[in-house]
Amino acid sequence: MRAEIIRLGIIGCGSVVQERHLPALGRVRGLRTVAVADVDANRAKRVAEQFGIPHHYSAYSSLLESKEVDAVAVCVPPQSHAEVARASLAAGKHVLIEKPLALSLSECDLLQDCAARYGALKVMVGFNMRWHRLMVAAQDAVSRGELGDIKLVRTVFTSGVRLRADFADWRMQPETGGGALFELGMHHFDLLRFLLGSEAQEVYAMSAPEGETATVAMSMECGAQVLSAFSESTGENHTIEVYGERGWLHICCYRADGFERFSLGEYTGSVATRLRRLKRSLLDAPRMIRQSRLGGDYVAAYAEEWRHFVDAIRLDSPVKCGLHDGRRALEIALAAREAVAVKQAVRLRDKPAANVAAASTYSY
Ligand SMILES: NC(=O)c1ccc[n+]([C@@H]2O[C@H](COP(=O)([O-])OP(=O)(O)OC[C@H]3O[C@@H](n4cnc5c(N)ncnc54)[C@H](O)[C@@H]3O)[C@@H](O)[C@H]2O)c1
Repeated sequence: MRAEIIRLGIIGCGSVVQERHLPALGRVRGLRTVAVADVDANRAKRVAEQFGIPHHYSAYSSLLESKEVDAVAVCVPPQSHAEVARASLAAGKHVLIEKPLALSLSECDLLQDCAARYGALKVMVGFNMRWHRLMVAAQDAVSRGELGDIKLVRTVFTSGVRLRADFADWRMQPETGGGALFELGMHHFDLLRFLLGSEAQEVYAMSAPEGETATVAMSMECGAQVLSAFSESTGENHTIEVYGERGWLHICCYRADGFERFSLGEYTGSVATRLRRLKRSLLDAPRMIRQSRLGGDYVAAYAEEWRHFVDAIRLDSPVKCGLHDGRRALEIALAAREAVAVKQAVRLRDKPAANVAAASTYSY
């Protein structure tokens, strides 16, 4: 087991780094952020100063040349993920790549080949929602069979991000990874696989012309039906409901008390249900206040994601969310995009491929 501190370099210093990764990384033992890089040199300098990071660069190649960097976080816009991740592996660094893994399946395959060449290095995809406290609880309940066979999942992920003055250019175009299907939907495409332990089978989708709002209907190989709605031009909501033959879960990721389980025959508004909810919220209040002071459930999820990455490097153990998972989520997003274009359902595959190489027969 590796004992020394893992030294991290971050490439890309935009909003996800400033608002999520760096606040979370301050809470992760065994890892220290030693360098940042951004094509915007002023931004790299400002972020380095704000978070007490000793080195900053404008060219990511300079960061990769540093012998003081063991691992890299790839946090540039999606069209550069694959290129920066491959260069990082070639420089001998472990890599955590923000979602989406890449913009095409061929890029995923090149990355997979590259990772296989540098097999001792860890490569993880940053699907932070897998470490969100409420998603962990939901996955646990589903996998232990508490809801019985899952029949239906309904998901909503909306934000007002497109209405912000600092909305980045790359987010406007689907070709550069922008739009609700890629930016928001990608999280749910991964979460559905994570929660249900099943692959997507068939996808139908509709999208507003600019791609800022999209709806998706999907069937999973386990038999569950899925309905999802995503928008970048409205209020903030992040909700997942999982319906099984023994009851259902309502998970609202923006509420500290956002995990509710209902049995068969139980109504959400009944007096007993309301009292139970109130009692649970009161009992959990001290924990909620503590968590909120530390940045809330989202920063905590990022911290957990980083702890997992650190453990994988130190113990040489597998990552929970690897290239294969990144590729699978991308397959669904691409199939949804295709469904929008052809205005009909798109079938992903008849039998899931056992590995990424076999899946590369796909022709997106
Ligand atoms: N996990 C999540 O929930 C989550 C949330 C937000 C963003 N993201 C993902 O994180 C990535 C970054 O998103 P963001 O919101 O921070 O974007 P952003 O546009 O705010 O920041 C991107 C930064 O990368 C820099 N950059 C661009 N090309 C570069 C290069 N070649 N070398 C170095 N720096 C470069 C830009 O100057 C900018 O500062 C995207 O892939 C996005 O999808 C994930």
